[in-house]
Amino acid sequence: MKRVAFLTSGGDCQALNATMRGVAKTLYETDEDVEIIGILEGYKGLMYEKYVKMKPSDFSGILTEGGTILGSSRQPFKQMRKPDENGMDKVLAMKNTYQKLKLDCLVILGGNGTQKTANLLSEEGLNVVGLPKTIDNDIWGTDMTFGFQSAVDIATDCIDRIHTTAYSHGRVFIVEVMGHKVGWLTLHAGIAGGADVILLPEIPYDIDSVIGAIERRTEAGKRFSILAVAEGAISKEDAALSKKELKEKLKNNPYPSVSYKIGAEIQERTGQEIRITVPGHTQRGGSPCAYDRVISSRLGAAAARLIKKEKYGYMVGFKGDEIVPVPLSEVAGKLKMVDPNSSIIKEAKNLGICFGD
Ligand code: F6P
Repeated sequence: MKRVAFLTSGGDCQALNATMRGVAKTLYETDEDVEIIGILEGYKGLMYEKYVKMKPSDFSGILTEGGTILGSSRQPFKQMRKPDENGMDKVLAMKNTYQKLKLDCLVILGGNGTQKTANLLSEEGLNVVGLPKTIDNDIWGTDMTFGFQSAVDIATDCIDRIHTTAYSHGRVFIVEVMGHKVGWLTLHAGIAGGADVILLPEIPYDIDSVIGAIERRTEAGKRFSILAVAEGAISKEDAALSKKELKEKLKNNPYPSVSYKIGAEIQERTGQEIRITVPGHTQRGGSPCAYDRVISSRLGAAAARLIKKEKYGYMVGFKGDEIVPVPLSEVAGKLKMVDPNSSIIKEAKNLGICFGD
C-alpha cells in the first residue's frame, strides 16, 4: 500500500484541480493499492493536521474546475523557521504530520515560495514531488507553468474589451496585469491584445519614452492608446534606488498602484483622458483553458511516474515539449525572469511596441 498526500499552497490558479486529477488518475491506473490524502489549506494543514482521505470519485469532474478542492493559504518561506504564535516549531510539526499519516510521498503543487519550502522538507528527509503552479510562469527549471496560459487568455480578453471602448471615447487606457516581480503574463497578454506600450518589472521605464509613444500615436491620427502594465513595473528612477530608499519614498506615495502613478503623469503631460482597468484576481479565476488542461494532465501523469519509481526531491517541469525532473534544490530560490535582450522582446519591438526603455 502506498500512501500519497496532495497539498496545494500559495496563490491559486486555474489548473490545480486538473493537475491533482492527473496525478490521481495515473496512480489509480497504475497502482491499485494506493491511498490518497488531501492536506487542507496548504502547508497550514500539514502543520496543524488538517487533512481528508480521498476517494477516486473525488477526482471526477474536476478537470474543468478552477481553484483548488483542497483550499490554499500563503505561508511565506521566510516564516517557516520561525515558531508560530504558540511557540510551535512549524517544520517539526509538518514532519510529525507526515510521519503520523505514514506517508510515502508528499505531492506539492505551488509557485516559487512553495517550491522553496518543498525543498526544505525534502532536505529534512521527506519524500517530496513538486508540480509547477503559477499564473506568473516565473518558476525556474520549467519553460511553462500551469495556470499561465489561462491567465494570459483572461488578461488578453480584458485588453480586447478595452480596445472597443478606448476607440469609441478616444482615451488612453492602462490595463494593470498581475506580476509583481516578473512580467511574462503582461508580455504575452500585451502582445496578444495588441497593446501599444508594455511595461515590465524587468525593463525599468522612462516616462518620457512612454509619453513619446502615446504622442506619436496621436500625431499619426490614432484615437486611443493601450498600455499593458505589470503590477511590478518600475521607473528607471525608482529602480536606481536601494530597497531601503525606495521603501522610504513609497511612504509618501498617494497612488494605489503603479498604473495610477503612470496614468497621472500621462494625463498631466499630454492632457489626454486616462482610464485604468485592473482585472486583478479574475486572472486567476474560472476554468483552466484547454492548453492548461493538457499540460497539467501531462505534468500530473509525469509526477505519478516519479512516485512509482520512488524518485523524490524533484519538481516536474517542461523543457520544450518534454517533461523532465528538475532537482528541487536547483529550483528553490531562483526566479525565471524575462530577459530584456530575448527574442520575444526584440520581435515585440519590431512590431512597434514601446517598452519604455
Ligand atoms: O503569484 C501569483 C499572483 O497572482 C501574482 O501575480 C500576484 O501579484 C499575487 O499572486 C497576488 O497575491 P494575493 O492573491 O495574495 O493577493
